Amino acid sequence: MATFAEKAQEMIGMTPTYDDHQRAAIRAEAKRHATSTWFKTILDHHEAIEAAFQAVKEASNATQRARLQTELAGLLTGHSIAEEAIIYPFMKLEDSASDAKHAYAEQALAKMQMVALDQIKDKMSEEYTNKLEEIHDAVLHHMIEEERDFFPKLQEKATPAQNRKMTQHYADEFSRYMKGEAVVA
Ligand SMILES: [Fe+2]
Repeated sequence: MATFAEKAQEMIGMTPTYDDHQRAAIRAEAKRHATSTWFKTILDHHEAIEAAFQAVKEASNATQRARLQTELAGLLTGHSIAEEAIIYPFMKLEDSASDAKHAYAEQALAKMQMVALDQIKDKMSEEYTNKLEEIHDAVLHHMIEEERDFFPKLQEKATPAQNRKMTQHYADEFSRYMKGEAVVA
């Protein structure tokens, strides 16, 4: 019988994979098009999330891996809460309701999967690294959709006042969750 997480994955569709070169090209293009501060900040946070995944993968022992996993989960949650509080609602207002729904569903799944990862007791096991890889792939896919499709479109459609609102509100929500922790140098 399918788990809730498997049903959610089925609902949002298969996750295609992209190689590093394709992802780098998409991010470079997004950086060129990001004129609003909220979009630039999110790109910085996406890079911080990728670095946090890498750090968990490279951990040399279970204690270190558990600590880095907690840091990754905190960063993912802070980032996703801020997007869900202001960015996705504006996607809906700007006639991208299906994109907003899709983005919410993917982030809900990532939260469920991070708890499933946390439940794996042996942090150095194959089961753990497979689950971590699965989540990493899904998060990379989600970030590509945002960087290539959702956010350039939103930035373009939003008025200057709406872009300023998203910048301020995203920063407020993110820092409220992170309690002033610096995650991006
Ligand atoms: Fe994101």
